[in-house]
Formats: sequence, C-alpha cells, structure tokens
Amino acid sequence: MTKNTPAAQDTGHSHDYLPAAGRDSMLPFYDILTRLLGAGKVHRSLIQQAALAPDTRVLEIGCGTGTLTVAAKDAQPRADVVGTDPDPLALARAERKIRGRSGIRFERAYAQDLPFPDAAFDHVFSSFMLHHLPAEVQPVFASEALRVLRPGGRLHLADIGGNITAADGYAARRMLRNQHVSGNLRDGIPRLLRAAGFDCEEVDSGVYRHVGRVTFYRATRPA
Ligand SMILES: C[S@@+](CC[C@H](N)C(=O)[O-])C[C@H]1O[C@@H](n2cnc3c(N)ncnc32)[C@H](O)[C@@H]1O
Repeated sequence: MTKNTPAAQDTGHSHDYLPAAGRDSMLPFYDILTRLLGAGKVHRSLIQQAALAPDTRVLEIGCGTGTLTVAAKDAQPRADVVGTDPDPLALARAERKIRGRSGIRFERAYAQDLPFPDAAFDHVFSSFMLHHLPAEVQPVFASEALRVLRPGGRLHLADIGGNITAADGYAARRMLRNQHVSGNLRDGIPRLLRAAGFDCEEVDSGVYRHVGRVTFYRATRPA
C-alpha cells in the first residue's frame, strides 16, 4: 500500500495505513473511547466464538493497542498469541500491556503482507480492522489470513457491517453513508472471504448504539 491509498488521502494523515482512531493525536483516547462504544463486548464475543484450546496458536491482524490480543491470552493462558499492526505508536501502547509476560508478543505487520509461514496459526482474529483497509487491499488480506491458517483453522472477524438498515438507529444511518464501511454492507464480507477460499458463516449481529450494526463472521480454511 502506498501513501496514495484512499485511506491515506481522505484523512489527510501521512501514513500508508488508517490509524486506530483515525489520527495519531487521538490515539491516547482510543482505549477509553472504544470501551465506551462497546468494544469490550465485541472482544468477549469473538473470544467466546473462538473457544481457544490449550496450546493453540493465535494471531490478531490489526491489533491496534492490543486489547483483544491480551484478552485472548487471558482467556487461554496456554495459547501462543501474536498481535500485528502497521502502527508503531499503537504497538508501543500494546507492548506496555504485556511487560514481562511470555507466550504473547506484538509485531509490526500489514494485513496484506503477513511475515508468517503458511499454516502457522489455528485462529486469526480481525476486530474492526477490515474497514481500515482500502477496497483493493481487502482481497489480499483475505488471502493472507487463509494462507497463515492451518487447514481447518478459523478466522473470527467482527466489523461494522452486515444487514445495516436505517431502522438500526442514527449511528447506523451514518454508517450507511460512510465510504470505509461500504464494502462491509449486506453480504460484502462473506463474499470477500468466500472468494479467498474460506467457508464462511455469520455467527451473530447486533446493534451497538454508537457505531451502528456490528456483525460477526466465522470463516474456516477448508481441511
Ligand atoms: C479500529 S482499530 C482496531 C484495533 C483492534 N483490533 C480493536 O479491536 O480495538 C483498526 C486497526 O487496523 C490497523 N490497520 C490499518 N491498516 C492496516 C493494514 N493495512 N494492515 C493491518 N492493520 C491495519 C490500524 O492501525 C488500527 O490499529
């Protein structure tokens, strides 16, 4: 991805990725803001859906400040957990949450170019990351997620999207007009994941008052 990606152009920032809170100056408020918006509930649902077994290998793509990555490790202390994100500022905050812990680490990486061998993970998480990717990068992310999962391994993805309607409320109506979310609407996400080779099912969907509708998908790499 270059600095001329849509994500870089329309926020006026100088990165080749769209940062967690839209701009660096907002990052210190990201954790508190997202907690207020209901991210904790989304993270707990994703972890519950994954039902992580002991000795399982887990990757979060686009981990931001690392909250979900750390929660996954807390939920299954015998898992080996890695969080990746292109944003060094977010990763520095994530690192502070795991000082001295083993079996969990953070690494700088882009979703479209993961520095891991084929079949390296049993589970991959993606939480509110997909809408940060330009449309042309999303299929590359889906292929990379498939590649790093072992056959039978699963991608657990949650994002704003799915069957959002105006009846879902004010935030949902705003999201229907948000260009970053447009690819996530209706069957956009399952179509993206199936095109990459996943078996994909919607596992849950709910209205979150301040962000509109969040939909959860489980995508399995065929055995
Ligand atoms: C809204 S935050 C979500 C953070 C975290 N997953 C959570 O649930 O709180 C989106 C994250 O996607 C990251 N991101 C943006 N472009 C990316 C890319 N090309 N590859 C991987 N992550 C990316 C951003 O840096 C940001 O940390």
